[in-house]
Amino acid sequence: MTVLMHTLHVELEDRSYPIYIGRSLLADPGLLGRHVSGRQVAIISNETVAPLYVDRVRAALGGVEPAIEKISEIVLPDGEQHKTLDTLGHIYDRLLAEGHNRSTTIVAVGGGVVGDVAGFAAATYQRGVNFIQVPTTLLSQVDSSVGGKTAVNHSLGKNMIGAFYQPGAVLIDIDTLHSLPPRELSAGLAEVIKYGLIGDEPFYRWLHDHISQLRALEEGPLAEAIERSCSNKARVVAEDEREAGLRALLNFGHTFGHAIETAQGYGEWLHGEAVGAGMAMATRLSVEHCGLPEDEIALLLELLAAAGLPTAGPADMGADRYLELMQRDKKVIDGRLRLILLDRIGAARVVDDVPGDTLRRLLEVAPV
Ligand code: NAD
Ligand code: GLY
Repeated sequence: MTVLMHTLHVELEDRSYPIYIGRSLLADPGLLGRHVSGRQVAIISNETVAPLYVDRVRAALGGVEPAIEKISEIVLPDGEQHKTLDTLGHIYDRLLAEGHNRSTTIVAVGGGVVGDVAGFAAATYQRGVNFIQVPTTLLSQVDSSVGGKTAVNHSLGKNMIGAFYQPGAVLIDIDTLHSLPPRELSAGLAEVIKYGLIGDEPFYRWLHDHISQLRALEEGPLAEAIERSCSNKARVVAEDEREAGLRALLNFGHTFGHAIETAQGYGEWLHGEAVGAGMAMATRLSVEHCGLPEDEIALLLELLAAAGLPTAGPADMGADRYLELMQRDKKVIDGRLRLILLDRIGAARVVDDVPGDTLRRLLEVAPV
């Protein structure tokens, strides 16, 4: 039975949209039907998620009135390495061959990889078609499905080709998390913790008390954590959709994290794991550079460990390697590194004046 636990709104004037959070939402013809605009639907998923959840979406679409005339199912291979222009080409081929017109609705069912590729397909197919996100990983439920960043990777860089394109609705069915590998759940928790650190101290303190319930997928706390995360993200996106300022704060810990992911080779460390270690580093630096109280370091390390996340970067990664890779960060302007740091828990800002020797010292001690 469908249980709608929270409904939020991303406020973007005529492109505003709801985020529904609850149980068994996938199977609800009413919710999907409200957001399917024409009589054609293309479900885009991957080979892992499709066998688990696409039948439920299909069945729900079967109950939509007036009846949907065409449902195509496009199943992509699983993995970040398939987030490419080739995969996008395959999606366009199928949509065209199966006669999808401008009134079609694309429904993405999967994690961030599926959502990002399907979103870019929706942004570009026939100059843009209706798009619904059905995220099935915790990371995609609290981060990638909200805010309209869509992209594919290029051999020279991750997410280098894409568009801002907001979905018409996000359906977060927390039941889907029961099939998610625990390591992926922990990776999603890193982004949940991030929202507390950068903008919501009460939520951050709440997480310390509820982290084991979240890992055990207790539905009340889980829906609450997703709702708080999405409402924090929705607020930031409503204020700064195209990342002119405030939205950059969502990258807390990510400059260090991206350096770890690149150094280790994508896939070795999950994104959320690298962000976990990166947030620990950014918090240490915040103590040194911004006067964040020192006891916050131990509290964060405790929370990261309880979430099943690393608390430090790889032991064999030296300061030189971090500094080299961090210079490639999108936030570097005129060779100046811009980092997100905390003045206090819940108050983040962009900082571009960290002395080189302070940063180097931090990177040298971080793995200990
Ligand atoms: P993912 O999409 O690769 O999913 C992780 C794994 O879990 C995959 O193997 C997937 O098939 C599997 N999976 C998904 N749902 C499942 C379920 N319910 N049960 C069992 N297995 C399931 O990874 P992700 O962490 O969801 O997303 C990472 C991607 O998101 C990256 O490409 C990143 O660039 C992107 N991203 C985008 C934004 C944005 O704002 N658009 C933000 C953050 C990350
Ligand atoms: N994940 C960062 C953003 O959406 O801006």
